[in-house]
Amino acid sequence: MASVMLTGGAGYIGSHTAVELIESGHQVVIVDNFSNSSPVVLERLQQIVGAGIVCERGDIRNADFLTEVFQRHRVDAVIHFAALKAVGESCEQPLNYFENNISGTITLLQVMQQQRVNGLVFSSSATVYGQPESCPIREDAALGITNPYGRTKLVMEQLINDICTAHPQFKAAILRYFNPVGAHVSGLIGEDPGGIPNNLMPFICQVAVGTRPQLNVFGNDYPTPDGTGVRDYIHVVDLARAHVAALDYLLREGQNITVNLGTGCGVSVLELVQAFEQASGRSVPVNIAPRRPGDIAECYADPALANRLLGWQAEYDVKRMCVDAWRWQSQNPEGFEPSR
Ligand code: NAD
Ligand code: UFG
Repeated sequence: MASVMLTGGAGYIGSHTAVELIESGHQVVIVDNFSNSSPVVLERLQQIVGAGIVCERGDIRNADFLTEVFQRHRVDAVIHFAALKAVGESCEQPLNYFENNISGTITLLQVMQQQRVNGLVFSSSATVYGQPESCPIREDAALGITNPYGRTKLVMEQLINDICTAHPQFKAAILRYFNPVGAHVSGLIGEDPGGIPNNLMPFICQVAVGTRPQLNVFGNDYPTPDGTGVRDYIHVVDLARAHVAALDYLLREGQNITVNLGTGCGVSVLELVQAFEQASGRSVPVNIAPRRPGDIAECYADPALANRLLGWQAEYDVKRMCVDAWRWQSQNPEGFEPSR
């Protein structure tokens, strides 16, 4: 069993992955600066797994801090979640995104090399496909950029691939997530965006719980069956389990991989709203609004490569995603901390 550093491990996907890793017998060291998460998540993780959580508070851009963490703890591999991720914000503050995401990754890779840690699982995104030519999207589809956040993901993928080429002992699994939603079945951890949510599911949850009056649907004139945007929503627990499978694959096979993590099913905005209303018993009023700049009509994965290489496939359907998202939201109407 491995000892794994999770950068950004207190965040939405990292915290769910910590649970799945620990429940699979791995040890976890969370490294987070809490710039987009709450320390309360550590107490919640402890409640779920029934054991103390190792966490080092600090910034991945600080090489001295990272070096100390590697020296204090055994680390066999790193799962690198830490990043800023808001597309709109990245358009307003591109330098912050380049600095945090790209410089942070370079520092992490340098310290990993110094410490001779040679396994990396990296959080990439379907955003690297830009405006896809067709769906479902395979990993060999053309890549493109539609915003600075997406640029950071593409650059980081390229940096990691260059390092794999230069140092064959260094192995990486690049995971391109589609749209993670849902929450742990306990309702103790889930997605907690500060301020107004950018993404669809947390916005729907806040409308259902009464924090916001209605959902703006960004466009109903796309060339999709009901005119609204189509995405590949994947339950965060399925996604977390894919990280365990990717880590096991890296340690077992020692092969570099880049894989899509999605269900392969396209779901429209209105379909998700309807599924959520059924799951929660709450109504989610919608207002048809103009298209959001930069949005694409549809985006869903061909997950066959991950299915084949990792022996993994998404198990939870949209209904389950909504049930679990609603349990988290209704038990924690203001997220982890009312003030965030
Ligand atoms: P999140 O914001 O909930 O988690 C990221 C964590 O990283 C936060 O806890 C934050 O405090 C921490 N962090 C950020 N910069 C840091 C730094 N410099 N040093 C230390 N910690 C830092 O985001 P998430 O949804 O869990 O996403 C995790 C990863 O997955 C990110 O890399 C994101 O870009 C990627 N991703 C997310 C989605 C999505 O829709 N959630 C989709 C595709 C890819
Ligand atoms: N949408 C609305 N109203 C809202 C929010 C979203 O109608 O208030 C619509 C969007 O127009 C889109 C769909 O809901 O059609 C999904 O939007 P999200 O913002 O939830 O997700 P995106 O697919 O636009 O982007 C997300 C992340 C990106 C990531 C991408 C693929 O924000 O960083 O998934 O992983 F790159």
